[in-house]
Amino acid sequence: ILLRNFGRSKLFNIFRLSTGNLYSSMAPKVLLTMMLPPDSQKLIESAKDIELVYWDKPGAIPREKFLELAKGVDGILCMSFDKIDSELLDAAGPNLKVVSTMSVGYDHVDLSELRKRLISLGHTPGVLTDAVADITVLLVLAAARRIREGFRAVEKGEWIWSTTWMLGVQLTNKTIGIVGLGPSSLGATKVEFDTLIRESDVICICCALNEETKEMFNYEVFKKMKSNVILVNTARGGIIRQDELCRALSEGMLGSVGIDVVTPEPLNPNDPLLKFDKVTVVPHIGSGTLETRTMMADIAIENVLSGVRGETLPHAVNVNFDIK
Ligand code: DGY
Repeated sequence: ILLRNFGRSKLFNIFRLSTGNLYSSMAPKVLLTMMLPPDSQKLIESAKDIELVYWDKPGAIPREKFLELAKGVDGILCMSFDKIDSELLDAAGPNLKVVSTMSVGYDHVDLSELRKRLISLGHTPGVLTDAVADITVLLVLAAARRIREGFRAVEKGEWIWSTTWMLGVQLTNKTIGIVGLGPSSLGATKVEFDTLIRESDVICICCALNEETKEMFNYEVFKKMKSNVILVNTARGGIIRQDELCRALSEGMLGSVGIDVVTPEPLNPNDPLLKFDKVTVVPHIGSGTLETRTMMADIAIENVLSGVRGETLPHAVNVNFDIK
């Protein structure tokens, strides 16, 4: 009777007060690989029916720590750069029921391993679309109007205004090709990839990274593009063959490039890509607004809590459907 009258969380609180060890051996354990935005961190910490373990140092959790802390957990809330593969899943062991990534993309997760082990996967679709659209437009304009070169000229005292100095590209009447637009009511024309790369003045890469799209932008593709094309990538670095992009740029191809995602991340400051004035790189901040990151974190929390509680994930990836 006592148990029936007490809510689940109250029951666990009692165990926590009286027998801490018993509590932790009963409550599902959740590993959070990075601190969340403040309100979301409070939210996950307020879930009384789980035992929460988290990595609280700045930056991505080191792999060895990830493997160590994953041991025996029921749920993992991770980021887009935390590789979820068989090694990690083996380290976690058979209790693991759910992986919840605080990202819409899940190319860092081995889907067939999850399917084999009947582990659910949650992600955060929809809520970052506006923020990533903003940064895509920002990079198109930054590339078109040579913003990186402009900043540098100001900082280095090389500001020499003349009627033909620092001229960019005007977007009026230009053709924009979006790879990964999805169903759209924008009045855009759907074309084959080859047509898109040959005819676009601006190309925005917005698709998911998978077997089909991996390195689909390579030297052969760059050769077919207009010589003054503006190329923007706000999807995943792996969609571009980066060494071949550098080769194309060094041979004078492409007009300008704006990139939010690279290989690897973080990019080494001496990477050849950064040597080109016409390349603007920002540090994977497409979803980087407090509103968006908080919405993403809250969804990721809902997903992981649902998974460890044995409930349906509100935002699940269809692991079976997505395996090619
Ligand atoms: C995503 O959600 O996939 C973003 O790239 C993560 O920042």
